[in-house]
Amino acid sequence: MKTTPFYITTPIYYVNDEPHIGHAYSTIAVDVMARYEALRGRPTRFLTGLDEHGLKIERRAQEVGLPPQDFVDKMAGPFKRAWDALGCRYDDFIRTTEERHKVRAQKIFERMRDAGDIYLDEYEDWYCVGCESFKLERELLEGNLCPDHKRPCERIRERSYFFKLSKYGPKLLEFYEANPQFVAPEGRFNEVKSFVAEGLRDLSVSRTSFDWGIPLPDDPDHVMYVWLDALTNYMTALGGPAARGEAPLYDEFWAASEGSIVHVVGKDILRFHAIYWPAFLMSAGLKLPTQIRAHGWLTINGEKMSKSLGNFIPPVPLAEKVGVDVLRYYLMREVGFGHDGDFSHKNLIARYNGELANGLGNLLNRILPFIEKHFEGKIPALKRATELEEGLMQKARESAEKSARFLDSGVPNRALDAIWEVVARANWYVDQTEPWRLSKEEKVEELARVIAVIAESLARISRMITPFMPEKAAALRAQLGLPALEPLVGEDRWPLGSLDDMTGRAIVRDAALFPRIDKKAEAELLESLGVAEKAASAAPPAPIKEKKKAKLDDEAPALSEPEGGYIEFGDFEKVDLRLGLIVRAERVPKSDKLLRLRIDLGEEDARQILAGIGEHYEPESIVGRRVVVVANLAPRKMMGLTSQGMVLAVSDDSGFSTLTVDREIAAGNRVS
Ligand code: MSP
Repeated sequence: MKTTPFYITTPIYYVNDEPHIGHAYSTIAVDVMARYEALRGRPTRFLTGLDEHGLKIERRAQEVGLPPQDFVDKMAGPFKRAWDALGCRYDDFIRTTEERHKVRAQKIFERMRDAGDIYLDEYEDWYCVGCESFKLERELLEGNLCPDHKRPCERIRERSYFFKLSKYGPKLLEFYEANPQFVAPEGRFNEVKSFVAEGLRDLSVSRTSFDWGIPLPDDPDHVMYVWLDALTNYMTALGGPAARGEAPLYDEFWAASEGSIVHVVGKDILRFHAIYWPAFLMSAGLKLPTQIRAHGWLTINGEKMSKSLGNFIPPVPLAEKVGVDVLRYYLMREVGFGHDGDFSHKNLIARYNGELANGLGNLLNRILPFIEKHFEGKIPALKRATELEEGLMQKARESAEKSARFLDSGVPNRALDAIWEVVARANWYVDQTEPWRLSKEEKVEELARVIAVIAESLARISRMITPFMPEKAAALRAQLGLPALEPLVGEDRWPLGSLDDMTGRAIVRDAALFPRIDKKAEAELLESLGVAEKAASAAPPAPIKEKKKAKLDDEAPALSEPEGGYIEFGDFEKVDLRLGLIVRAERVPKSDKLLRLRIDLGEEDARQILAGIGEHYEPESIVGRRVVVVANLAPRKMMGLTSQGMVLAVSDDSGFSTLTVDREIAAGNRVS
């Protein structure tokens, strides 16, 4: 059991707008990770907060006609309320306009200056206010647009203090080498490494043309660059930097911690966290974080989220309609952590009905009535397990191990997949054993066995879903006669370290955990969310309806039967095509053609696949690419190495290409 401290943070959100579902995704992911670690018995601390300085905020305050401090004070409320409403149990909420932050951010700056890494100079450069970041000329789109915000960058010329970032390039590369887990997922780490390897420019870290920021200690005409100010929040919130003994939280969770310091960030701000932040800390002579976990971006029903498209989703009203835990579950299950994902109202309902109502909720309902009818409301003991029960219990143990491993490495969606493997197995077991028949035939001993093993599985599941759906987990446990699961430092409460004794527990039947949403309720829900109406109005004016279809000429050209004859759809279905993500690539020695790839197929480990594409691609250039893989091809050896699948590609006289997708679909999805 790990008992070392675990400190985890969300990015601090800009207060120029209200929180949306993308921010909620980040905060919920951190909450899940924090709750998980606490259940494992680790002292855990979860920090979130707000990024309140900088030009973007100053301008927004001007637009709404408020002094900046009044504006940020007004905006802080909705963020706190949103996280409270979404069940996110943060331990601290930092705002960069707080005194406790400002003085310590200045201290960090002083340490960087004392290290000789700060100098005064003048620069002229492109700046994107949306990103609060300088841009390289070559990064800009036509018309000097920022590639992320698609808005014109500003040409800025100013005297400014610079940080010798260039000096830290080699040190960073060394650090990455020594800490291969520093950035997860691996594909994103590779992007960071190549960016650093290309060479870093010194960074302007102060501004004089506006004053909404932290004044520099020795030169108050300058305010601190907003990213330097913001990144330090992770440390200032703990009371650092400070000498040993001065700030207990800083000692426990940062300076003297032998545990983990984890920052969860979106892919757009990974560079700031994986390059600037460690470089600042190296310069200031302070300890570096353990890991940066980078997630992808959410789109909404397939589109980018934006106010102008009218698909900006505030999370709280949505949670009020679908349920807080349902929203938490959906976001954590739907989006492959590290990849972009799509939020779709229809998918949410489909997952709700399929996985929560029919899957988990149903499992509980399949045993409760019989406990009342035959066992006076008490869960019977499991006597003489057969192979079937053993199989289910084995699955439950495996799932506890697997889900723990995925949560240890920060992949909540895979942990949920592993948990739902038990749900599916348990429902299958119920189908096999038919408790309703056993009840009718009064086969009480057999029935007792079924109930006992399902109750035991549900108890394990209730522990594992606690980080994801704390309230539903408590409700499930209450119906099983169990108290809610609270963490306790030093005690591992994952169903590996401890289990619930179910024998003799008095059940407490209550409302269905996840009542099914029928067609009518679905239509009403979608309408109340403003989805149905929009989808209808967005539909093309005259879709091809049944009647018209009948009138269409069949224009399929005549084909002659292929040489080997047609195959049936069932034959095609035998080929398991999957979308894979290349996470590593290298040349196979003594072969021009073969590359050895590690491809993430959404499985526990990335597969090793050998591909004859070495004449067309340099290994470094294809890491991060999505490819189509034949996943059920029998493994075979090539040049002494086993290939566990095949990558599909196409070529003509002028070139060669692997097959890929035009969106960031999560690895592991079936190609059909
Ligand atoms: N203030 C900076 C972070 C400073 S951390 C020292 C910032 N703020 S932000 O409000 O613009 O973004 C905060 C986080 O929200 C980022 O991690 C960003 O990736 C995430 N998201 C913003 N839109 C998102 C989606 N559509 N989907 C998922 N996450 C998204 O950057």
